Amino acid sequence: MAANTTAATLPLSGRVAIVTGASRGIGRAIAIHLRSLGAKLVINYASSSSQADVLASELNSKAADSIDTSPVAIAVKADVSTPEDVKLLFDRAEQEFNTPAHILVNCAGVLDPKYPTLANTTVEEWETTFNVNTKGAFLTCREAANRLARGVGGRIVLISSSNVGRRCRDTVRTRRRKLQWRQ
Ligand SMILES: NC(=O)c1ccc[n+]([C@@H]2O[C@H](COP(=O)([O-])OP(=O)(O)OC[C@H]3O[C@@H](n4cnc5c(N)ncnc54)[C@H](OP(=O)(O)O)[C@@H]3O)[C@@H](O)[C@H]2O)c1
Repeated sequence: MAANTTAATLPLSGRVAIVTGASRGIGRAIAIHLRSLGAKLVINYASSSSQADVLASELNSKAADSIDTSPVAIAVKADVSTPEDVKLLFDRAEQEFNTPAHILVNCAGVLDPKYPTLANTTVEEWETTFNVNTKGAFLTCREAANRLARGVGGRIVLISSSNVGRRCRDTVRTRRRKLQWRQ
């Protein structure tokens, strides 16, 4: 009973959060934090089903001693760069928790581990990064704008990277070098 009373008074009690890219890394840490504040969670991933399932199981088992045994976290596979998958993500949140989601944290992201320079980035590499990091942010935000619960303090949080700035600086440096070379 004491545990229930505590859970009910947590700041995000009764709220549902969708965290994209929550199977690992920063998204996983954000999901755990939101759960610690009382939110129910949709843990999104693209391919790491076992990591997402383990996280959902851990969060559900921690909550299992309460009277309410319904899940507090589900893992949902969805590619944020695909409109149909993003819709499905919000559908699953509503079906599982019987309410529109209240919070979207878009943390899904890819970074080419080869760190190619701008000059050596292929169109395919650019498209992969753009589709997840930029189009994915657009699609998840658009779905959230249409479907987050209204009038109850919903939130949209986007996670980006300082690499964006670094790429811009690289581009400027490359242009400067080319200009110096021409002069
Ligand atoms: N790590 C850093 O130092 C750092 C610093 C500043 C900002 N950031 C930003 O924070 C965000 C997360 O970074 P991270 O280092 O935590 O990444 P990470 O550990 O590589 O995890 C990436 C997450 O995104 C998911 N994902 C990838 N493609 C996806 C797609 N198409 N649809 C749905 N989910 C997808 C992955 O799912 P799977 O596991 O299924 O592939 C995984 O859960 C990125 O936007 C990154 O730019 C990172």
